[in-house]
Amino acid sequence: MSSVQPCGTSDDDRRPPLNDILSIVRRGLAIEPKRLPSWLFYDARGSALFEQICEQPEYYLTRCEVALMEQHAGSIADSLGSEVRLVEYGSGSGLKTRMLLRQMDRPVAYVPVEISATPLSQSMRRLAEEFPALTLQPLCADFSKPLRLPIPPCAPRRTVLYFPGSTIGNFEAGDAVKLLRKMRNEMGDAGGILVGVDLKKDVTRIEAAYNDRAGVTAEFTLNMLARLNREIGSDFNLSAFRHRARYNPMAGRIETHLVSQAEQQVKVGSSRVNFRSDEVIQVEYSCKYSLEDFAALAAKAGLAVMRSWTDPQQMFSVQYLVRTSAVAR
Ligand code: AVJ
Repeated sequence: MSSVQPCGTSDDDRRPPLNDILSIVRRGLAIEPKRLPSWLFYDARGSALFEQICEQPEYYLTRCEVALMEQHAGSIADSLGSEVRLVEYGSGSGLKTRMLLRQMDRPVAYVPVEISATPLSQSMRRLAEEFPALTLQPLCADFSKPLRLPIPPCAPRRTVLYFPGSTIGNFEAGDAVKLLRKMRNEMGDAGGILVGVDLKKDVTRIEAAYNDRAGVTAEFTLNMLARLNREIGSDFNLSAFRHRARYNPMAGRIETHLVSQAEQQVKVGSSRVNFRSDEVIQVEYSCKYSLEDFAALAAKAGLAVMRSWTDPQQMFSVQYLVRTSAVAR
């Protein structure tokens, strides 16, 4: 039996109200250096642009993760075991999820947690078609906040939190540890975390992925300002800002900025924000890890890497984490 709950009707709907966006933006532009959260990218247009980024020849992450799933989804599903409740953080197009579900033994429920309602309902329809026996329990919520998961149709053997795409890379190390700790609580004693992690590699390859020749990533970055203009009535001039993504080798991450092309003033709500020429707004980190780096990060959250898989070129990894105490037993 499949039960689809329409997105937005649950009391777990934690999408930030508009005044919250306004106050988040105001605060972010009042600090030095200026900083806006990367989840602001994902309005309907931003989500569509991200899907387009995934098709760019330079953006290796998606292709490598799909190649990894093609090769290893069976062995990954074996590690998760049978009668699993699969909870996905930030569901997106659902391609990798379908690859995984096809290999899983009698999954009990699938719970996608997604802040943006449109892509969620689309991928739900697809899943319901391919897996008519699977209970779908979509949750429209911010996965970085504490979640109240819907009650499963029957008791799962374990809850596995699926976090593909290297979205964990958007969090600075300290915040990533906090998020992993929150996930550790949500999955329970017997649970696990299946996380996609982009690996350290040649800097040129990494930087190219965030500076595609077709300019889709630049459009994606600038779309954040278009969104704000529409939603909070700011008046950012999109041609007066430029996308810049550089690898910081010390921190092991891509740092994406919007760079002001001139000295300018922007209206944000009832106040005005000044920009110097070349002043930046920091909009995204995309952290890259070695397998050792990530194991150390997981350990700080009380988690151990039970198994990890990589694509044939060792560009990308998928890692299965369990509670450290579960390994000791
Ligand atoms: C969806 C967070 C994994 O950081 O690589 C792609 C987002 N930003 N190009 C990433 C993104 C610019 C992407 N994640």
